[in-house]
Parts: sequence; C-alpha cells; structure tokens
Amino acid sequence: MASETRRSLVQHSRLRRDPHAVLRRMLDRVRPGALLDDPTKELEQRIADLLGKPAALFFPSGTMAQQAALRVHAERTGRRTFAAHAQCHLALWEDGGYNAVHGLRHKTVGDHHGLIILDHLAEVREPIAALLLELPQREIGGLLPEWDDLVAQTGWARGRGAATHMDGARLWEAQTYYERPFVEIAGLFDTVYVSLYKGLEGVRGAVLAGDRETVDAASVWRRRLGGAIPDAWPLAVAALVGLDDVLPRMAEFRDHARAVAAAINADGYARTHPEVPQTPLFHVHVPAPKSAVEAAVKRILDETGVELPRHVSSSPDPTRCSIELTIGVVSLEFTPQDVADLVRQLR
Ligand SMILES: Cc1ncc(COP(=O)(O)O)c(C=O)c1O
Repeated sequence: MASETRRSLVQHSRLRRDPHAVLRRMLDRVRPGALLDDPTKELEQRIADLLGKPAALFFPSGTMAQQAALRVHAERTGRRTFAAHAQCHLALWEDGGYNAVHGLRHKTVGDHHGLIILDHLAEVREPIAALLLELPQREIGGLLPEWDDLVAQTGWARGRGAATHMDGARLWEAQTYYERPFVEIAGLFDTVYVSLYKGLEGVRGAVLAGDRETVDAASVWRRRLGGAIPDAWPLAVAALVGLDDVLPRMAEFRDHARAVAAAINADGYARTHPEVPQTPLFHVHVPAPKSAVEAAVKRILDETGVELPRHVSSSPDPTRCSIELTIGVVSLEFTPQDVADLVRQLR
C-alpha cells in the first residue's frame, strides 16, 4: 500500500506545494538584499502593467478582494445589487459573505449549467452596482464566452451605469483562448481580480486591479477586514516566480488538457465537458455515483500513490457525478492515455 502521493493530477498537490519545494523556487529568485525593494510592490506594479490598469493591490485572498471591489462599486453607485452567474464563487463558496459582511444582494443571471448570454441580462430589471463575470466559469467546465459576447455584456452593464468586475481567478488560463493581450481583456472591466496561487502556482493571495480611486477605496476595506498585512512578501515572491516560470506555459497546459480530454472521450467510459477544453481546466462527467467515485479516488491513492481530485460533484442524476481536472506542472507528466486509464477506474 502506498502511504504517500507519488504522482498527482491535482493542481494544488503537496508535490508542488510542499514547503521545501516552494522555498527552493523562491530562493532562486530572492537575492541577498532584494527585500529592500518590497516584492509586494513589485508584484502589484507588474500586474497593473500586465492588465493595463493604473493601480493594483495585494489581498490575502480572492474572497476578500472581490467583496471589497463589489462593496466599493455599491457605495459609488448607491446600489446594493450585483448581477452574477448562479454558480459564481461568491454564491457557492463564501458563506454569503457579500451579504453577511457587506449587505449586498446577488441577482442571479443565466442558466445554472450554461454561460450568461445577453438575453439573460435583458431580464435584469433592477439597477445594479456591478456585473460580475467569472472568466472562465469554473463550475460549468471552465467555459468562456466568445469575445463578441464579452464585449456586448460588459457594454450592456456600462450602458446602465453599472461597473464591470472580472473574477479573473483563472484569467491567466483564459487569455490563451482569446489570443488577445491581457490589457485588451482587462480593458472591458473596471476592476479585475486575479489569483496568485491557482494557475500561477504561488502560495496564496490575490491582486485587485483598477483605477486609482477604486483601488484606494478597496484598500480601506482591506484594512477594515484585516487584510492589510505587512510582510506579505513570501506570497508575493512565490507569485513573481509564477509569473516568470508558469504564466508562459499556459498554452502548453491548455494543449495537454485538450489531448487528455480527447483520450478520455475516445476511451468512451466518461466524457469531458466541454468536449474540447477552452482552458487547462475542464470537467469529467463519470457514469458512476458520487460515493463510488470518492471511494475509487481513495483506493487509487492508497494502492498506487496517484492522487486524483478528492472533490467530486454530484449530479441531478444520482448514477452520475463529475470531477474537475486542471492541467498544470505536476499533471503534465501523465500521458493522455494514463489519465484516460485512471478515469476508467472511477467506478
Ligand atoms: C472562480 C474563483 N473565484 C474566486 C476564488 C477565491 O479565491 P481565494 O481562495 O483566494 O479566496 C476562487 C477560489 O477557488 C475561485 O475558484
């Protein structure tokens, strides 16, 4: 019985996040005396430049960054409601923080299992502070709206005096789909949150970018919420390593994700959603109950040391479920056929 993870298909695997491995990557970047120039400031400037925004601010988490941004948009517009997908991160994973802490209201738009389209927005009849778009929409397989749809939807919001906010937790991954510079994509949004630890494979943390006034106002909320931490430099350095080493590899991850999905679909036991991944993140829909797949994930780890995602999503059909796969540095060592063979064992 293997007692530890030997190979992993999980982006946040301990194989990559192990402190020794993380510190070794960071040490290569931090030269003696380098901390005299605060790496957090360097990171904020670099992301502001990359996204073409006048200002950018480090936050300890994306959860805090997005709530602060929406709070500022609400105060500026005098409106309490933001429009966003029913399965956005704020709705599913933040225990209603936007409401409990900030008194905001989430107007859900779109189909639960599909992308927001302009027709859905036309049904929003109340004034909104902001339209939040998650790129890609994680919970529906990492789908992305086509460019023209993105332009139309952000234009719709601006035309109604609402701010546009991007949940860009995976903007780094999404950019390869649009094949446009980050500046152009971010240009459709007043505020953009990016994550430092998902695609970039840093430690934790987030950055919120926007105009100076908005970012200054968000910094007040960061302090109020206890997020103005001095010495955030280890998180910043890990993210700078990610910007140098991992960001340039997004197209490679996306291409491998496509090859993996093709092998799973050709095998025929499970199928991927989308069929051709748009980003390195995609879902695998498995014809087995959630409990059986959870048990199989555990068994595979115990018997072979291969780690698969532990989080299994249920489906309205109890005989089916799905898992999320993200191709990154550690999962590249699996051939597409290796992954298809593993998926076949999820039963
Ligand atoms: C789409 C999306 N938005 C926001 C977040 C929040 O990020 P954090 O974990 O830094 O709070 C996540 C985290 O998983 C996410 O997937």
